[in-house]
Amino acid sequence: MFDAKSFIEKSLDEIRSIVKDEKVVSACSGGVDSMTCTFLVHKAVGESLLAVFIDDGLRREEEPEFVVDTLKNLGIRVRYVDAKEEFFEALRGKTDAEEKRKAFREKFYRKLGEIVKEEGARFLAQGTIATDIKETVEGIKTQHNVLEQIGIDPEDYGFKIVEPLKELYKPEVRMVARELGLPTEISERMPFPGPALSIRVLGEVTPEKIKILRKATKIVEEETKDLDAFQKFAVLHDDKATGIKEGKRVYGNIITVRIVKSEDATTAKIVEVPYEILHRISKRITSEIPSVVRCLYDLTDKPPSCIEFE
Ligand code: XMP
Repeated sequence: MFDAKSFIEKSLDEIRSIVKDEKVVSACSGGVDSMTCTFLVHKAVGESLLAVFIDDGLRREEEPEFVVDTLKNLGIRVRYVDAKEEFFEALRGKTDAEEKRKAFREKFYRKLGEIVKEEGARFLAQGTIATDIKETVEGIKTQHNVLEQIGIDPEDYGFKIVEPLKELYKPEVRMVARELGLPTEISERMPFPGPALSIRVLGEVTPEKIKILRKATKIVEEETKDLDAFQKFAVLHDDKATGIKEGKRVYGNIITVRIVKSEDATTAKIVEVPYEILHRISKRITSEIPSVVRCLYDLTDKPPSCIEFE
């Protein structure tokens, strides 16, 4: 049985022995993994830690404000970095899922390398967990935050990596977050992928498509807030479908809604969402987002599907 308390004690010693009195930058997207990692490293090294939130333009509505405010309320120094244009530029013209993931990863670490240098730090702390490493090493997909385990030297980007959670799975990370006293809105937070909405806009990512998906995501989250599930989200398709709006033919966007139960993301089952909720989601998405003419519900477990589409 995993013991969160002794894990924390052991990690604090380990982090201190690696970092010594050097400065550390923590890449903090606001998910349970990166927040737990940031809080743990802060507990170990205090003011030597700077949390960094990179705004890549791919986050959900109000997410940047939520993450920055939460970190401040936890007493952690935080820097907000606006890199929206740079990320859209890095993703421009990329349509293949793996190519997009690699472009995101490259931009993400180059940007972090710049920040680490500006801050005079040597270490980058990140909340990589066992599932991220397993899926990347096994070749299922390139998780954005896995480097050393696939033979990429982080020194090429200008830092050494500290990954205190890399042997844990999601339920254990949540246990550590609870033990550390993090607020429940963090410890129980729904998982959200590092490359954010970019892997839920199928095909090329543009600011316009992200805007559509951000609205659909908000509707799905609002309409399912009382529904017990591991992840609930929307996906914007690359192709289009014919519909009718205000009596006229519209060749418009397609949104798929995906809601799954899972323990640790290695397998997942679809949730039998009450039809009423699905219907409400579909009505709202197609009426509140003018370009969307079709809304679908994904009926596939993992395996054979992955949780995410890309
Ligand atoms: P898949 O799609 O592999 O997702 O079934 C498993 C879990 O991992 C999340 N996910 C990611 N998390 N960086 C992350 O931090 C990534 O690149 C990434 N890709 C997928 C996904 O949301 C699910 O919880």
